[in-house]
Amino acid sequence: MRILLGITGGIAAYKAANLIRGLSELGHEVTVVPTENALRFIGKPTLEALSGHAIETDMYQDVAQVRHVELGQQANLILIAPATASFLARFAAGIADDLMLNAVLASNAPVIVCPAMHTEMWLNPATQANVATLVSRGVRVMEPASGRLTGDDSGPGRLPEVAEIIEFAIAGLPLKGKHVIVTAGGTREPIDSVRYIGNSSSGRMGIELAKAARNAGAQVSLIAANIDLPLPKGIAVTHVSTVDELELAMDRECDVMIMAAAVSDFRVQNPYLGKLKRSNGLNLELTPTKDLIANYAANHPNSIHIAFALAEETKERLIEIARGKLWDKSVTAVIGNSFEALGNKDTLVQFVTKDDAIELSGSKAEVSKSILELVSKLIR
Ligand SMILES: Cc1cc2nc3c(=O)[nH]c(=O)nc-3n(C[C@H](O)[C@H](O)[C@H](O)COP(=O)(O)O)c2cc1C
Repeated sequence: MRILLGITGGIAAYKAANLIRGLSELGHEVTVVPTENALRFIGKPTLEALSGHAIETDMYQDVAQVRHVELGQQANLILIAPATASFLARFAAGIADDLMLNAVLASNAPVIVCPAMHTEMWLNPATQANVATLVSRGVRVMEPASGRLTGDDSGPGRLPEVAEIIEFAIAGLPLKGKHVIVTAGGTREPIDSVRYIGNSSSGRMGIELAKAARNAGAQVSLIAANIDLPLPKGIAVTHVSTVDELELAMDRECDVMIMAAAVSDFRVQNPYLGKLKRSNGLNLELTPTKDLIANYAANHPNSIHIAFALAEETKERLIEIARGKLWDKSVTAVIGNSFEALGNKDTLVQFVTKDDAIELSGSKAEVSKSILELVSKLIR
């Protein structure tokens, strides 16, 4: 996993050295971004030597690369340890006044913060209100440990042990250790060497689902069918075009198979080699393609299978259609959506299982996050 480790200017910043080592030893790629004040407590050379990369704090260096956006988008997980009272306040207020907070705000990755400060600072209503705000937005806040603080004092406010932080950050991800395959885009069945039967699926929903699965800690494989959009980083991608190629790419074990690709229901029996001319006339003989997700579900009964149903119907009818597909295909869940979702950034879907029909709406990124939360619950 690509972890952005933010270090802020508290006395416990020196412990970040062991955190970098611990996370790197587990095979994670750790990018360290300290605040200016953190560098008063731990030296740049230590952070550079342990992380193996140059340490930056300046927003306005290498501006051409727009580093804060790059850092934010590359991260699969953001961990801020230690987090000062000042950082919590700035993050809660959305104040992006340094490289690290800009990167944090520019990211969709899950954020974990490990506050560490004097007991009074921790219990101060301002700090507690900032923590409550962050928690309400989905940030995971690790409760500080109780014990010896700077000087002779002791009480709650200590940075927890490095092993505990790693356990909290990594083990807490709902899809940690799970392999999720997401198919995305739309297949193309050749008519001749240059023409095809295709569909208008952009692949956006599948991409967002893949990102959400990655952000939930899963190992993700994305099977991309004819997608023009930029593909997410940190995810293994297999490119396919036809239904047969898609079937071949799907032929592997996984914990969760999400079939977001729009698959052609028909293929041309004998595609023409070369380019058909108008004068040839055209009489296409079509044969139905296989139901890939139903076949996958039959061959991999221990996986979770999520199918999609696209229909231009009322909500009730869409749920009915999705429920029908649930039984026909023997899948775990069917996500019903309407034609409007095609190519759009926003969507409204019905997540239908044998027990429930849950409506989710918002941007495809938000809906994907909710879908992966529901999938995590199904695994449990
Ligand atoms: C010796 C010393 C220790 C400090 N320890 C902490 C601490 O543990 N937690 C904290 O919230 N602030 C601590 N501070 C105050 C922060 O350094 C200060 O709020 C700073 O503005 C934080 O900057 P940053 O959040 O941008 O890194 C300490 C200051 C000093 C001088």
